[in-house]
Amino acid sequence: MVTEKESYRKGYAILREAKIADSDFDSRILFETAFGHRPVPPFTDSESDSENEKRYLELCKRRAEGFPLQYIVGVWEFYSLPYYVDERVLIPRQDTEILVETAAKYIKRGNTVFDYCTGSGCVGITIAAAEKCKMTLFDISEGALEVAKKNAGLNKVKVDVKKLDVLRELPDKQADVIVCNPPYLNKDEMESLQKEVKAEPYEALYGGDDGLEFYRALAKLHFGALKIGGYLITEIGETQAEDVIKIFTENRFSFIEKAKDYSGNDRVLVFRNI
Ligand SMILES: C[S@@+](CC[C@H](N)C(=O)[O-])C[C@H]1O[C@@H](n2cnc3c(N)ncnc32)[C@H](O)[C@@H]1O
Repeated sequence: MVTEKESYRKGYAILREAKIADSDFDSRILFETAFGHRPVPPFTDSESDSENEKRYLELCKRRAEGFPLQYIVGVWEFYSLPYYVDERVLIPRQDTEILVETAAKYIKRGNTVFDYCTGSGCVGITIAAAEKCKMTLFDISEGALEVAKKNAGLNKVKVDVKKLDVLRELPDKQADVIVCNPPYLNKDEMESLQKEVKAEPYEALYGGDDGLEFYRALAKLHFGALKIGGYLITEIGETQAEDVIKIFTENRFSFIEKAKDYSGNDRVLVFRNI
């Protein structure tokens, strides 16, 4: 008889062999995905279901090839809420919680709020779940918009979802607050991505040659999408604060504050339409 413990170890060995950084964590999550329960102590010595083991080992092989854990599992947590994720959207990052936290300070009850570059919808939906506001999620990708709609349903949050190319277009109304986590990697960073990150959508990551293309568009075009006195709150790459502040303050915005991520890097900037 093969026990569940033995099944678990086979999958763990596949990930170790492939030098997956968090083999233990990943194999536990994949075990749970396949078996429906965690291999937590006291570890069950009950007989392993052969179908479950087959599925578990297939998932481990997929992970060993460098495919992201989050896409394999299909649902990931962001700010304690569940989000469907697949290859059409960026996997929500913990650092992006800082964008949500910072935005919450500026949003008042009843405000009109836009979440640009919404992807899975994790930023806008998490805000809408906590704040009484009128939220619209925007993205250029039809696939991302489908995922965002599904996530609004999953979290029972009412939002509008619209297609928009933020580099070229404005929405048909104005917001009190715009939040945005745009693509911000530059050309060099795109060339040295980890295998896992390469599985994420290219257009969710690439911010032009210098990584600043979206900030230029936001600053030059999107004051038109904000009411006078409204706030634009954006995530940035950890070395971009100075450049992004310059871009915005040269274009009708005043700089209000910056917020740091869990590692102490500048991660979020707040601007006001003056
Ligand atoms: C860095 S991801 C952010 C996803 C999500 N907001 C998050 O924080 O996890 C950037 C998103 O911008 C979208 N995007 C790329 N180019 C765009 C454009 N020109 N206009 C609008 N959205 C765009 C991508 O489809 C992707 O979903």
